[in-house]
Amino acid sequence: MDLMSRYPDNYFDLAIVDPPYGILNKTKRGGDHKFNMKEYLQWDKKPEDEYFNELFRVSKNQIIWGGNYFGQLWLRSEYNKGYIIWDKNQPESLNNFSMAEMAWSSLDKPSKIFHYSVRKNRNKIHPTQKPIELYEWLLKMYAKQGDKILDTHLGSGTIAVACYKAGISLTGCEISESYFNKSMEKIKENLSNIEFDLSIPNAYSITFPNQENETHELYEHLIEQNRQLRIFEEAQTEYETENANA
Ligand SMILES: C[S@@+](CC[C@H](N)C(=O)[O-])C[C@H]1O[C@@H](n2cnc3c(N)ncnc32)[C@H](O)[C@@H]1O
Repeated sequence: MDLMSRYPDNYFDLAIVDPPYGILNKTKRGGDHKFNMKEYLQWDKKPEDEYFNELFRVSKNQIIWGGNYFGQLWLRSEYNKGYIIWDKNQPESLNNFSMAEMAWSSLDKPSKIFHYSVRKNRNKIHPTQKPIELYEWLLKMYAKQGDKILDTHLGSGTIAVACYKAGISLTGCEISESYFNKSMEKIKENLSNIEFDLSIPNAYSITFPNQENETHELYEHLIEQNRQLRIFEEAQTEYETENANA
């Protein structure tokens, strides 16, 4: 919410988001259980209406993973055409595992299915990590060069790798420091020449070579806003340290 509040209406061309589905507590299923389930339980809380309202304010179009869990999305339109399925190629016999995941989308396009085995999703650093290939396919189908993409729940950051490879700009954030740090390592491992703009507190955005020199009114405004935030934070830390020593 903090990140989105900094952007004007319709700033992003496309939001590709994967918020918590809020299912772990109910079903004890979902995600990869080799990860820390206590940590997973802490963040697996469905976003409220105000999150979706803000998301629809800052972005022109949206692809929202776990759309089947967010009933309010289906009431936004008279018809919901362009939903997206990821067929995970799970055998039918594995009763406890979903064979697919679905994304709700605002796009007035035919429904599509992406076939990609969940077992190819190797070297995971996050319990609900989606494959880079899935994001690459989404960008190929629904985004174009010059688009600004938003992801409010980065998790492992696989979307960042896909965006970078596609030459598309991404702004994203992640609330968990440990996931964030792991995702940064992973991204740097995949993309040695990547440039991050880490000046936004609690979030990161990535600048790509073709957009580096762009001087945008809003960007300048954000730089100023962040400069002021940093000054405020430094002053606050100084004040707290002085008081602690007194
Ligand atoms: C379903 S996972 C996203 C997985 C990601 N798509 C991937 O492929 O790795 C949801 C993520 O949202 C993060 N999260 C939960 N609440 C959040 C919030 N209010 N703001 C930002 N991130 C949040 C969680 O820490 C978790 O990493």
